[in-house]
Amino acid sequence: MKTIIYNIGTLAGILPEGVLKLEGAQMDDVNCINDAYLVIEDGIITDFGPMGNCPSICQEAALPSCRHSDEATTICHSEKPATNCHSEEPAGRRENLINAKCGFVLPAFCDSHTHIVYAGCRDGEFRDKIAGLSYEEIAARGGGILNSADLLHETSEEELYRQSMERVNEIMAMGTGAVEIKSGYGLTVEDELKMLRVIKRIKETAPITVKANFLGAHAVGRAYKGRQSEYVDLVCNEMLPKVAEEGLADYVDVFCDAGFFTVEETAKILEKAAEYGIRPKIHANELEVSGGVQVGVKYNALSVDHLEKTTDAEIEALRGSGTMPTMLPGCSFFLGLPYGRAKEYIEAGLPVALASDYNPGSSPSGNMRFVMALGCIKMRLTPEQSFNACTINSAYAMGVSDTLGSITIGKKAHLIITKPIPSLAFIPYSHQTPIIQTVIL
Ligand code: NIG
Ligand code: FE
Repeated sequence: MKTIIYNIGTLAGILPEGVLKLEGAQMDDVNCINDAYLVIEDGIITDFGPMGNCPSICQEAALPSCRHSDEATTICHSEKPATNCHSEEPAGRRENLINAKCGFVLPAFCDSHTHIVYAGCRDGEFRDKIAGLSYEEIAARGGGILNSADLLHETSEEELYRQSMERVNEIMAMGTGAVEIKSGYGLTVEDELKMLRVIKRIKETAPITVKANFLGAHAVGRAYKGRQSEYVDLVCNEMLPKVAEEGLADYVDVFCDAGFFTVEETAKILEKAAEYGIRPKIHANELEVSGGVQVGVKYNALSVDHLEKTTDAEIEALRGSGTMPTMLPGCSFFLGLPYGRAKEYIEAGLPVALASDYNPGSSPSGNMRFVMALGCIKMRLTPEQSFNACTINSAYAMGVSDTLGSITIGKKAHLIITKPIPSLAFIPYSHQTPIIQTVIL
């Protein structure tokens, strides 16, 4: 089946084949074609270019140009819907025509760090937080991650899938085309497997691309209170072998931070995961400068995530590595933490990815457009840098940038079609305006 998207005002996020991430000054640009078309065959981008080169479409609907005529926007708005165009095509035609009506066409967002499989919510802790308790204080009182683990334990696998799919549908509608989902609210062998099976089911049933991350070391399970090293052994010797045997995880994660897991415990878990060929993605430096970046780089982590607290040593450690520094401005926003030093990382020649961290405790939102806006407003990234951080670089941070994250021939056509908007900057600038016309997954 062939689909042609025509009357594209601006086709943005074009990259040549083989570009898997953008670093340093490469992040400054977003390649675009104005007045464009794009062809999809069997879900893959097979062609794109200026409208003048557009193959066999409803020419009447295609003209005049979106960009270069003052009247164009009105004409595009009021023209016949694509179905009408379709019916004017010769009988037997096997092309589906989508009129972009002068909107932007963008690669869908990639969200490389989420915890969207969880049960219930933590709105009670929201009150505690407003009253002045910190994330660590809430956790120390037995709330936080352990609170979510209790809720998850009481929830059936079916119900967990149902609740999680509501969030998956929510993020797809907001333009996310790929999502990494972590376990870590189980904290027992059975409940971690339950979470990972739900993630697997989402992978199999939803059109969004999904990567699963085993985060058994998110917190010490209640039954192991005061016996942290025994819990780490449980993760290494019981959870990991079962997770690997069932093929439930693409990645392994550890919350390497003050009050959670040490560098030594992290290394132990990553050593074990390496035996099963599972690559790490690490939670590091959210609460303190934890050494998590360095241990992540040492074990060839695909990404080190959070980085609210970093020094120059972390920038140095990441130089020349294949590890993507990933920042989560939604977490800084919600917890009132410092924002990551994204600008300095980029000035040092490094890549930066942004992700939502969608979870019930520190970032209850999966809106990647809001993440892109926070990247600009709070981290001083340009709209182009923030866009690249939310698309190609976040695709890299979840291991899918060979197939997603840009407009490239041969990549999956996971796309956003916007309403007519004046510029790329309008996307984060007017971040509450509903601009999405269609999401194609
Ligand atoms: O990435 N920091 C650790 N994990 C999550 C929060 C989990 C929770 O509070 O439920 C995060 O922020
Ligand atoms: Fe997280």
